[in-house]
Amino acid sequence: MMKDIRLDYTNIFSEVVGENNGLEDENIAALSRRANAIHKQLVKQRKSGVRPFYDLPYKVKEAKELIRVAKRVNGSFKNLVVLGIGGSALGTTALLTALGRPLRNSIPAKKRNGVKVYVADNIDPDEFGALLSTLKLEDTLFNVVSKSGSTAETMSQFMIVFELLKKKLGSKWKKHFIFTTDAKQGILRQIADRYKLKTFTVPDGVGGRFTALTPVCLFPVAAAGLDILGLLEGAARMDLRCRSALLKENPAYLFAAIHYLLDTSRGKTMTVMMPYSYRLKDVADWFRQLWAESLGKAQDFDGRRIHAGQTPIKALGATDQHSQVQLYVAGPFDKLVCFLEVEEHDTKIAIPEVFPDIPGISYLGGSSLNALMAIEKEGTEYALSVNNRPNMTIKIPQVNAHTIGQLLYMLEVSTAFAGELYRVDAFDQPGVEFGKQYAYAMMGRDGYEEKKGKYESEKVEKRKLL
Ligand code: PA5
Repeated sequence: MMKDIRLDYTNIFSEVVGENNGLEDENIAALSRRANAIHKQLVKQRKSGVRPFYDLPYKVKEAKELIRVAKRVNGSFKNLVVLGIGGSALGTTALLTALGRPLRNSIPAKKRNGVKVYVADNIDPDEFGALLSTLKLEDTLFNVVSKSGSTAETMSQFMIVFELLKKKLGSKWKKHFIFTTDAKQGILRQIADRYKLKTFTVPDGVGGRFTALTPVCLFPVAAAGLDILGLLEGAARMDLRCRSALLKENPAYLFAAIHYLLDTSRGKTMTVMMPYSYRLKDVADWFRQLWAESLGKAQDFDGRRIHAGQTPIKALGATDQHSQVQLYVAGPFDKLVCFLEVEEHDTKIAIPEVFPDIPGISYLGGSSLNALMAIEKEGTEYALSVNNRPNMTIKIPQVNAHTIGQLLYMLEVSTAFAGELYRVDAFDQPGVEFGKQYAYAMMGRDGYEEKKGKYESEKVEKRKLL
């Protein structure tokens, strides 16, 4: 029987963290009428098909096809490299780190199950150069992922690999690419059509940061031999829990409401996601993009300038107890901390009783890293609470495909709901688009001459250097 993830929100209340920093039950209750209206609005959007991310958990047939291709890939290649950035990479990395074993690419092939998978989500020449020089091209499949099919970072990576493969493998190069892109539009689609390359489709209307349950992430994750059907099942389970309009029944809505209320009425302009699990550290990174790109908006639905958005921060327990927690417990009262707690880790490591005569460490002997990890999380939670810092915990029974499917889906629904609370469009990203336009213009793309002139004329000419 699959277990549900749960939200422990005890420590966001005034009775724990004081009235300046915490909420009252009434604050949440006061949102219920709005929550109901927003719920109706979101259900309407879902039914009309404008928010297709909601129905991704039910694309089981498509997922089975991805598994079929992934099995073929496993028979022909040793490595798969994803070329993509932002929403075309972060979900894949989050899923690989969560569901694959730590250091998965270093495990011998027989014990690993699935090809080695790398996600090349940057154009840093040192990093990309190092990756290409360590891989045998004849053993490597490149999954080029771009919804727009024109992002400069991804396209330049593709062009470099295209040239290398052609030189090395001649006409066989085609077998080394699978593109994941829009069904009809974009340069990647044109190139796929020109050379008749294998492609997967990014479903219409699903933006980059909502693609965790599409071929964007599911194909590389399936190629790593991981359970993508379990992910969909978990997400579908969470979908059922998110059908309620009631904040006290719907974990996604409650998560959003707490963030919104603490931000807008208690000055918690930052939210820290802090997993006490290495395997969830990239979920925090994925969430950082989801929350930031969706809610960081200049204007509300009426065109008023509101500059909304909480700054999401990622931290890792217990590591960041020795780096960040000092600031979280003693610095400005501007943060909400959300822990991700794993109740049962897959591995149990006992601490041996090797120094019974040294009291400073003998107390550790006979315990386990698992117990220590749990106590460390408890300690951080305690320190935050007694220092009047609101915090909550998403309790995850075990890290597996089912619970991760629940978690990702919950956070996506939460983001859609939060967009409506802030009254901003959670599904566009004009700030990201500007970066793309600037790169196109300044790198000399046709049609961008005017923009280039404008950017150049507005540049600060005299640099202040010391
Ligand atoms: O969430 C988003 O929309 C962005 O982060 C995009 O995923 C990112 O910019 C990459 O875009 P594309 O997939 O079009 O290459």
